[in-house]
Amino acid sequence: MSELKNDRYLRALLRQPTDVTPVWMMRQAGRYLPEYKATRAEAGDFMSLCKNAELACEVTLQPLRRYPLDAAILFSDILTIPDAMGLGLYFETGEGPRFSSPITCAADVKKLPVPDPEQELQYVMNAVRTIRKNLQGEVPLIGFSGSPWTLATYMVEGGSSKAFTKIKKMMYSDPSILHAMLDKLAESVILYLNAQIRAGAQSVMIFDTWGGVLTGRDYRNFSLYYMHKIVDGLLHENEGRRVPVTLFTKGGGQWLEQIADTGCDAIGLDWTTDIGHARERVGHRVALQGNMDPSVLYGSPARIEQEVSSILEGFGQGDGHVFNLGHGIHQDVPPEHAGAFVEAVHRLSAAYHK
Ligand code: CP3
Repeated sequence: MSELKNDRYLRALLRQPTDVTPVWMMRQAGRYLPEYKATRAEAGDFMSLCKNAELACEVTLQPLRRYPLDAAILFSDILTIPDAMGLGLYFETGEGPRFSSPITCAADVKKLPVPDPEQELQYVMNAVRTIRKNLQGEVPLIGFSGSPWTLATYMVEGGSSKAFTKIKKMMYSDPSILHAMLDKLAESVILYLNAQIRAGAQSVMIFDTWGGVLTGRDYRNFSLYYMHKIVDGLLHENEGRRVPVTLFTKGGGQWLEQIADTGCDAIGLDWTTDIGHARERVGHRVALQGNMDPSVLYGSPARIEQEVSSILEGFGQGDGHVFNLGHGIHQDVPPEHAGAFVEAVHRLSAAYHK
């Protein structure tokens, strides 16, 4: 078993005792850090940064040099799978991700390959291996993927969306096309995450950024069903240690019991759910990750500390909480405010672990 100097994050996901509450930030490597912008400029564009293992490793480690974070997250993107399927991912400045060949019909779905993670996605595995080596056991490394539903929204809409018109049209007029696509995506995600685990990821997280735009019934049938399949298909142990899996559905606060039923180890919460209520509902079954509104980081360090304090109090005494933001850090947040956040979590949480 490889040695891990700080295993608070893994212990909290398994609801084991820790000295303080572990903390990391979704999108902790990114444009709010000037050193990220410099490395990205060196790489040229975002996907070139993802495909260069040394530079991807460098930006993964940048936030850890600034802040005493309890976990590192692989620097990559959820859209690597559709890109490897041949949809032609590109980024339009200020517009977000785009696909040159979106999915429109059954024939498109039939043609989709299930990518081999050690071939088309080998650059991701190389990044995982490089990061693990350079972390030198300081903190665990988180691997990740998008959920099948969330990936499908980008693949059908051709990019980001607000109304999800095309995919909802497909869902309500020809659901078998969508199910065939989600099935291929679930298979691809299982292979991809297991390859990340074999390459050295010590925990994995599934980002279901758009599950919350569905009705409860459609969430179960089109998103949760496929995440459950993935949880069933994952390697749950590696290097003699449990590899915990966290499911994060943004806007999923109504469905926590059903999410816990998948057998995941932890649930990610956005800020619209009260963490104390969430703990009462599912805290005896899973750990909880979250859930400060990332916009609180626009406030003063004193205001940030106040919010951290109220979330810690809401969760209450005991283990099974990984502190995080309820969604990714905004790109115009002052880096010192992120520092004040991390410091406040460690300092104020000790009292809850006695
Ligand atoms: O958390 C981390 O630090 C790890 C890296 C990470 C990125 N994307 C880097 C990234 C992770 C975990 C993601 C996940 C991701 N990507 C999600 C799910 C999480 C969420 O935020 O809901 C989604 C929906 C995507 C798709 C995507 N990729 C979007 C919407 C964008 C933003 C486009 C823009 O211009 O703002 C990206 C690009 C992206 N992924 C950036 C980063 C740091 C910005 C790229 C840049 O440097 O310009």
